[in-house]
Amino acid sequence: MDEKFIDLVQPTLVPWEEVEPLFAAVWRSGRLTVGPHTEKFERAASALMGVEHAVALNSCTSGLMLAYRALGLTGEVILPSFTWTSTGHALIWNGLTPVFADIEEGTCTLDPRDVERRITPATSAIIATNVFGLYPDLDALQRVADAAGVVLLCDSAQAIGATYKGRRGGGLCRAEIFSFSPTKVVTAVEGGLLTTNDAELARKVRRMRDYGKTADGSDIESFGLSARISEFHSIVGLANLERIETLLAAREKLVAAYRAALADVPGLTFQTLPAACRSSHNYFVTFLDARQYDRDEVWNGMTDAKVHTKRYFYPPLHWQAAYHGFPPPSPPLTVTERVSVSALALPLFSHLTAADVAEVCERYKQVLRAAKK
Ligand SMILES: Cc1ncc(COP(=O)(O)O)c(C=O)c1O
Repeated sequence: MDEKFIDLVQPTLVPWEEVEPLFAAVWRSGRLTVGPHTEKFERAASALMGVEHAVALNSCTSGLMLAYRALGLTGEVILPSFTWTSTGHALIWNGLTPVFADIEEGTCTLDPRDVERRITPATSAIIATNVFGLYPDLDALQRVADAAGVVLLCDSAQAIGATYKGRRGGGLCRAEIFSFSPTKVVTAVEGGLLTTNDAELARKVRRMRDYGKTADGSDIESFGLSARISEFHSIVGLANLERIETLLAAREKLVAAYRAALADVPGLTFQTLPAACRSSHNYFVTFLDARQYDRDEVWNGMTDAKVHTKRYFYPPLHWQAAYHGFPPPSPPLTVTERVSVSALALPLFSHLTAADVAEVCERYKQVLRAAKK
C-alpha cells in the first residue's frame, strides 16, 4: 500500500495573507530589526505570561548565553543531562563547568534531591528545563537554590503556554528563556525570549542582544552578542502568539487521543503530568520498556512504516562527544540513562489531524508487535 509519510513536527502558521501586508510595510520602511513589531511582540508576551519584562531575541540559545553572562555566573552550574544541548552549550560558551544532575522518574524533569547532592562551594546556579511542555518541581528547586545561595533559571524553550501549580510560565524563577523555533508550539520562524521580573537583568540583556551597546549607542558597556530579532520574525511570532489558546487546545486533544489509543500497549508508558500543572505539549514522547523492546529497532521500524519519530532527548548531554572532556557524572545518572534509551517521540503539531493520530497509532502498534522480545 502506498502509505503517506507522517512528519514528526510541522510549524503551524497563520495564513500568509495575514502577514504579507505587514511584511511589505516593514520592507518599505527600512526599519528591519528590533522595531515597533518587536516591541508589540514583547508586550504581548509579557501580558500573556503576567511577567514584568520580556526581551525578544534571535534564539533561545543566545538568550541562555546572555542570561548566564548577565547574571555573572561562575564556576559550576547544575543542569539536567536530559535536555536539549543548548542548555549546556551556553554554559560552555561562558567558560562555566556543567555539573549534570539526574531527572525524576515519570515526569522526566530535574530531580531536586539529586541537585542538592551535587551542590559544592563552586556552584553558582541551577538551570532547570521544561521537558516536552512540563515544568519541573520549581518550588523544591527554588528551596534548594535558596538554601545554597545560588540562582535558579529555567530553560523554558518548550514551555510557552504551560502553567505550574496554576501560575503562568514566564516569571516562575529568576529568568526563563523561551524558544520560537519552527518546532515550538508558537513559532516566530526562529526566535527566543527572556522573561524576568528583575528589571536590571532585563535591561542588561536588552543591551547585550545588541553587542552590549549603551542606550545611546555611543559606547559598549558589556560583552554582548548580535542577538537581535528582526521585525519579520516579530510579526510572525506575535501573529502566532495571539492564537496560543487554539494551538494549545488542539495539542491537548491530540495527546488525549494518543494516550487513549496506546493505553493498552504492553511495555509502553508516557510522561507523568501532575494535575496541578498544564503542559504545553510541545512533544508527545512514549517510553519503551527495554526488557520488552529495543527502542532503536522500533525507531527504525517506524521510519520503514513512514512515520517520522525521534529519540528524544537522546543522546543525553553527558554522552555527547562534545562533553567527553568533562568527568562522568558521579554518582551516575541512572534515571536519565534509562529514560533516554527508551524515549521515542511521536508526531505532534497543532494542525495534525485526529485521523493522522489514529494512523500513527495503528502503525506504531504493528511495529511494536513485530519488535516485541
Ligand atoms: C530545551 C531546549 N533548550 C533550548 C533550545 C534551543 O532553542 P533555539 O533553537 O531557539 O536556540 C531548544 C530547542 O529545541 C530546546 O528544546
